[in-house]
Amino acid sequence: MKKQVVPYKKRMDEVFEQLQKGAFLTTKNGDKINTMTIAWGGISFVWYKPVFIVYVRYSRDTYQMLEKHDEFTVSVPLSSEMKKELAYAGTKSGRDTDKIADLHLHLKDSQKVSVPIIKECDVHYECKVIYKQAMEPGNIPDEIKNQYYNTHDYHVMYYGEILANYDSNEEDSNGTNH
Ligand SMILES: Cc1cc2nc3c(=O)[nH]c(=O)nc-3n(C[C@H](O)[C@H](O)[C@H](O)COP(=O)(O)O)c2cc1C
Repeated sequence: MKKQVVPYKKRMDEVFEQLQKGAFLTTKNGDKINTMTIAWGGISFVWYKPVFIVYVRYSRDTYQMLEKHDEFTVSVPLSSEMKKELAYAGTKSGRDTDKIADLHLHLKDSQKVSVPIIKECDVHYECKVIYKQAMEPGNIPDEIKNQYYNTHDYHVMYYGEILANYDSNEEDSNGTNH
């Protein structure tokens, strides 16, 4: 069988830089679509597959969404910072409001997954969860636990196999220009 190489390095340096300021993690469950800001996570490689790992606390609506539907997209703004949108998506919950409508964001169908991407962003990752792991409190140093997990609201790590990765202005992620 011919091994399929999935491109996943699109503008990686810029993406890494922006991720620390924020990117949009979008999820879908039935008709409901939600997006939340993430800053923790990144691209890794396991089982010969490129993965985008995201860290989602139990308290997030996004956690509930991911538990019900194992796909997500990550949309990264590069040409404009989208500070206001990232702040909003990073403080409001999809449990209380439709953040995408509130922010007048536009969705676009993905190529490989049923969760859409956010059109206003520049680089997109389409992912299918192939592994998840709740943080094991006993494995976290007390110093970090005291700083980040006083309320026991731990992160769950979702490993999303990157099935497509492209620029907003690209039509086909399977091109040879990656
Ligand atoms: C810059 C920024 C980065 C964030 N990164 C994360 C993250 O990596 N993981 C996480 O669980 N929450 C993170 N948050 C918090 C969530 O985005 C926030 O709680 C959001 O309201 C959750 O939305 P939801 O309930 O619709 O899922 C971040 C917030 C901001 C502003």
